[in-house]
Amino acid sequence: MSDVKEILGNYSSDIIQSIEEDLSVITPNNLQEASFYLTKAGGKMLRPALCLITAEAVGGKKEDALKAGSAIELIHTFSLIHDDIMDDDDMRRGMPSVHKVWGEDVAILAGDTLFSKAFEIIINSESTSPLQNNQALATVADACVKICEGQALDMGFEDRFDVTEDEYMEMIFKKTGALIAAATKAGAIMGGASDDVVDAMYEYGRLIGLAFQIQDDYLDLASDEETLGKPIGSDIGKGKMTIIAINGISSAGDDSEKLLEILKDDNNSKEDIYLAIEILTKCGAIEYARNLALNSVKQAKEVLEILPDSSSKQVLVDIADFVLERNS
Ligand code: IPE
Ligand code: IPE
Ligand code: MG
Ligand code: MG
Ligand code: MG
Repeated sequence: MSDVKEILGNYSSDIIQSIEEDLSVITPNNLQEASFYLTKAGGKMLRPALCLITAEAVGGKKEDALKAGSAIELIHTFSLIHDDIMDDDDMRRGMPSVHKVWGEDVAILAGDTLFSKAFEIIINSESTSPLQNNQALATVADACVKICEGQALDMGFEDRFDVTEDEYMEMIFKKTGALIAAATKAGAIMGGASDDVVDAMYEYGRLIGLAFQIQDDYLDLASDEETLGKPIGSDIGKGKMTIIAINGISSAGDDSEKLLEILKDDNNSKEDIYLAIEILTKCGAIEYARNLALNSVKQAKEVLEILPDSSSKQVLVDIADFVLERNS
């Protein structure tokens, strides 16, 4: 796993440099700082690295996917800034959230700036053809609509306790899977892949994206704030309908009522959160979620069989496993 972290790290300096250059023209200064802040704080760079690695795995050059990859990281960053306002989370990447430092007004604008810049960057990609740029742009635009749809579903589920597994899967595909799928699809497009390979790479991204969000929901319960860089138990506190909560409500037997009570409460104590985690562990909801995610990763690796063997293909296999091995 440390290998995958190292590999992602190897791509990050080029991406950060490209982002910094593209954001350097933004004024006034506070908007530029708020827009670049989370990139400086340092994320895993999973999506842009996936974009570049996919370009290589389909036989293209990673340089040709650099602009699309950076743009996708900007879309991801926009979604995090707005997500922390919506989820009322104070920490991100181990730092105070953008809205905590600059206020909600500037945070909304920083998100909007990153969102717009991303499209400008893709359309100006010089080493790829106008057709490739158009296709990558359409791919990213589609993911952006899905992120908003997914986030709207996520927020709507906070007041509902009868959300089904299918509804959850649709929500996480849209809020998280779609952008990861866009990263691998755009990488395939910029790498010059044929249509069926482009479609397969979208499917690979979609499947690891589902597992990625299930793991995110798990880490919210099982990690610690220092490792994760964001608060623990935030989802239970807000009554978020994660697959773990959904499965727990139906399988916790006598404990279901207590679990529901905690999920519905807006002012839980730390003890309440720990009790909910205990209930969710005991009733097998965490194990259920893990198996669902493992199945998704397995399918993602099968999709990769369409690619010829190469070291980049092997990295894509390793990233599929990393999604569930990661602890941050
Ligand atoms: C967090 O994404 C938000 C989700 C979609 C679950 P990451 O876990 O990739 O966040 P960073 O970029 O590494 O901070
Ligand atoms: C994140 O979902 C989805 C997007 C940012 C689009 P979460 O709300 O679970 O992400 P974290 O846990 O705050 O990173
Ligand atoms: Mg959220
Ligand atoms: Mg959140
Ligand atoms: Mg989360």
